[in-house]
Amino acid sequence: MKMFGSALLAAVLLTSVAGSLHAADRVVVVGGTSKTGIAAIRLAQEAGYDVVGTTRSLRRAQERYGSDIKWAVVDIKDPATVKAAFDGADYIISSIGSLEPTGDNRPENVDYKGVVNMVDAAIAQNVKRFVLISSAGAGGDVRNRLNFIFSNILVWKWLGEDYLRDGATESTVIRPGGLSDEPGGVMGIDLVQMDVGATRPRTSRADVAAISVHCLSSPDCKNKTFEMYGDVGRPVDGWKDVLKSLKEDDVTFEAMPQR
Ligand SMILES: NC(=O)c1ccc[n+]([C@@H]2O[C@H](COP(=O)([O-])OP(=O)(O)OC[C@H]3O[C@@H](n4cnc5c(N)ncnc54)[C@H](OP(=O)(O)O)[C@@H]3O)[C@@H](O)[C@H]2O)c1
Repeated sequence: MKMFGSALLAAVLLTSVAGSLHAADRVVVVGGTSKTGIAAIRLAQEAGYDVVGTTRSLRRAQERYGSDIKWAVVDIKDPATVKAAFDGADYIISSIGSLEPTGDNRPENVDYKGVVNMVDAAIAQNVKRFVLISSAGAGGDVRNRLNFIFSNILVWKWLGEDYLRDGATESTVIRPGGLSDEPGGVMGIDLVQMDVGATRPRTSRADVAAISVHCLSSPDCKNKTFEMYGDVGRPVDGWKDVLKSLKEDDVTFEAMPQR
């Protein structure tokens, strides 16, 4: 209620959407202020979910995206804020990412320990599925250049992914390559597994968001990890069929990469 500013306004808002609110499953989009996260919020709203986005700054989120979104203030380094935001959640989408190589919000604390906090809270809440947006290169060669320039970010993302895969919640891990701000539904998409060898075309944040929302409920995404790239040679909506052919995660994932 705190996020609406007044109990009266909250009551009006809740009344106006009461039918769908009570019927809908709740999706919490962590990192809802990222360009990927906000696209996922909009698509999940359109799909009829009851959506809560998270941010560390309510004022910044409302200034940027307006007040028609329900926001919860969450710093994933603080388990209490995560637990509170996940109360009543049926599904989680995480679009978080560290943007600072050093300091308190470095990859170790966000992309690994923060993900651990989210997974623990999701399991405690018995959520139906957790969709984690990670990155191509996570789980790949530890000598990836990004690890050298950004405090082993791909290693920390990989460890965060693995904590999710090993947990009791159904999961989908999406590993996009480079991201663009192009509109979604325009370019073909290639979904592959453990294929990080060559430089691939970027994929749009809007398409990552679309696949994230699709994967909340699709059986084709259950317990799957895959890389995602742009591919002009593929039909725009061909990814739904490709998803069906991807393999489920093997719990005996290869050994932890050396740092
Ligand atoms: N950029 C690329 O080319 C690329 C490539 C591959 C994968 N990815 C990954 O794809 C995902 C989405 O990327 P993007 O570029 O759309 O988003 P982004 O700009 O990296 O946004 C990061 C998000 O993380 C949140 N965040 C950061 N620290 C947090 C903390 N301690 N607690 C809670 N939230 C925190 C921020 O929210 P607030 O600031 O509002 O709290 C923000 O919404 C990320 O996981 C990113 O690493 C990006």
